[in-house]
Amino acid sequence: MPDIESLLKEKRVFKPDPAFTKNANWNKKTVAEYRKLGAKNPERFWAKMAKEHLTWFTPWKKTLQWKPPFAKWFVGGKLNVSYNCLDRHLEGEGAWRKNKAAIIWEGEPGDTRVITYAELHREVCKFANVLKGQGVKKGDRVVLYMPMVPELAIAMLACTRIGAPHSIVFGGFSADALRDRIDDVGAKIVITADGGYRKGAPFPLKKAVDDALANHEVVDRVVVVRRTGQDVSMVEGRDQWWHELMADASPKCAPAKLDAEHPLFILYTSGSTGKPKGILHTTGGYLTQVVTTTKAIFDLKDSDVYWCTADIGWITGHSYVIYGPLACGATTLMYEGVPVHPGPDRWWSLIAKWGVTVFYTAPTAIRTFIRLGDEHPKKHDLSSLRLLGSVGEPINPEAWIWYHKIIGGKKCPIVDTWWQTETGGVMITPLPGAVDTKPGSATLPFPGIDAEVYTEEGDPTKPPGGGLLVVRKPWPGMLRGIWGDPQRFKEQYWSQYKDTYFAGDGAHRDKQGYFWIMGRIDDVMNISGHRIGTMEVESALVSHSSVAEAAVVGRPDDITGTAIVAFVSPTGGTDAGDELKQTLRAHVSKEIGAIARPAEIRFTDALPKTRSGKIMRRLLRDIASGKESKGDTSTLEDFSVLAKLRESDET
Ligand code: WT7
Repeated sequence: MPDIESLLKEKRVFKPDPAFTKNANWNKKTVAEYRKLGAKNPERFWAKMAKEHLTWFTPWKKTLQWKPPFAKWFVGGKLNVSYNCLDRHLEGEGAWRKNKAAIIWEGEPGDTRVITYAELHREVCKFANVLKGQGVKKGDRVVLYMPMVPELAIAMLACTRIGAPHSIVFGGFSADALRDRIDDVGAKIVITADGGYRKGAPFPLKKAVDDALANHEVVDRVVVVRRTGQDVSMVEGRDQWWHELMADASPKCAPAKLDAEHPLFILYTSGSTGKPKGILHTTGGYLTQVVTTTKAIFDLKDSDVYWCTADIGWITGHSYVIYGPLACGATTLMYEGVPVHPGPDRWWSLIAKWGVTVFYTAPTAIRTFIRLGDEHPKKHDLSSLRLLGSVGEPINPEAWIWYHKIIGGKKCPIVDTWWQTETGGVMITPLPGAVDTKPGSATLPFPGIDAEVYTEEGDPTKPPGGGLLVVRKPWPGMLRGIWGDPQRFKEQYWSQYKDTYFAGDGAHRDKQGYFWIMGRIDDVMNISGHRIGTMEVESALVSHSSVAEAAVVGRPDDITGTAIVAFVSPTGGTDAGDELKQTLRAHVSKEIGAIARPAEIRFTDALPKTRSGKIMRRLLRDIASGKESKGDTSTLEDFSVLAKLRESDET
């Protein structure tokens, strides 16, 4: 969590360049008008956006049906996501886009593919037919566990074409995590690849699918993309090659006319319990919010080359690598590998090579590049850039200024966008032609979004002041539920305050009403912009036979924002050596994935607890970050535990 005192000392203000404003998709006048409409009548604002930016087969009858906490947007309306992302760019007024690049793809080894809208449409129709041929029907869930290759985009869009909700599992998750998600979502089929490229070498994926599906009763079909050519074992009768199925598939497939509330996808994210939640998004409202925000915030024009660096396995990739940009008819760049292969300038060379104009990335990446040195971006011509974005965690002013100067050449507006897996699309953000920016602030809510800062008692705070971030009115991209668990949905997001969405973040507003997001206030950590629950890591640790008890906290880290620290009491006593620490780190990787591997493990024979047995994480956080705890310890059961824990980092 950034130190709000130091954030608020940030006084620099950057005004939109008049030349930018003049050409902006949304200028000051538009923004003022939309803010007014959005505040007075958010439903009318969103209905206007839905009509303007999307093509509907059947118009809706009612814009919003709100039975808290359950919302239905555009009730009775029918549309198709793949139609909006593809077909309408091939016909009528959009027809000139037929041969425009929809996806520019570059693999880590340097191989490239440029896929036009017409070609993407053809491939999507073919794969939709492949899915049908495998028995996938409207409503069936399809799990995608893939590297960053065009086939992932094709598979997603094919799912939307036939109304089969997808659930993408990030390729960095382990076989165990994959199996949990396959089971929870009740998948019928898994689409994967032999592997992908990372850090200069192929990594395997199919093997994890085999492990996840060992003795699996429901999933009897697997489709495998050949990406690396590495050896894989194909299970007779279950596994089939993508290219073989595609060879015979027809390129004609009519888009299903789907209800606006038809499930579009389920994406798992961490919460404050050990079990990840399947966040459900639906068709019409989600697409309305992502297309509108993409157009307005990234100011996308037909001439842009847009690059969002997120992996499609996270929500940012769903909304702003694929659905938002393609619904806008834009050119979206996809890059397979790590930012620093074969050298620390790979990203900058990609920007120069493809002439990227709009670039959207995460603060953790920016901080990594600051550390690597300015000479790497300076080697390349980045003058094509005209707008920069940031997402995933609060951006510290130092990183903001570096991004502005070194990457943006002092001429690009920066949009710091706050949102969540649950919100579907951006919620708090500058509009680049209209809003003054301040380094470290996500500025103001998007028109039609009623974000507020509440006291713990549920009273709105008056700026300046801090509290808990909430959204008071439903918005079109909001999650519709947690897959299979309506009770948890209610408790998690709607029990703190009546009929008001509780985001789980702390926020401060300055005198001007600008939002400064302070980070999670629950037991959720933000590691490099990715959400990991402390309980998830704890349950992974205690599942190991050498662990009696474990408590996990985050400590501030210069690069990743937060680093995971685990306090573990080993069954065999605290004399257990480094070997056990290595074993446990590997164990967490196996249970969840490398992203959840603790940066540090400390052995202890007791954890600080309250009299009722609750672990006092606040104290552990202080200890992990080397701070003297100034907090209240009056409910602590055994004071000697604290002293011992402080010593534990020397072992
Ligand atoms: C959490 C959501 C959807 C973006 C990718 C992460 C933090 C996200 C910002 C920002 C400050 C941010 C919040 C939020 N966060 N963007 N611009 N400034 N904090 O999605 O995994 O669902 O995590 O990321 O804490 O609650 P996610």
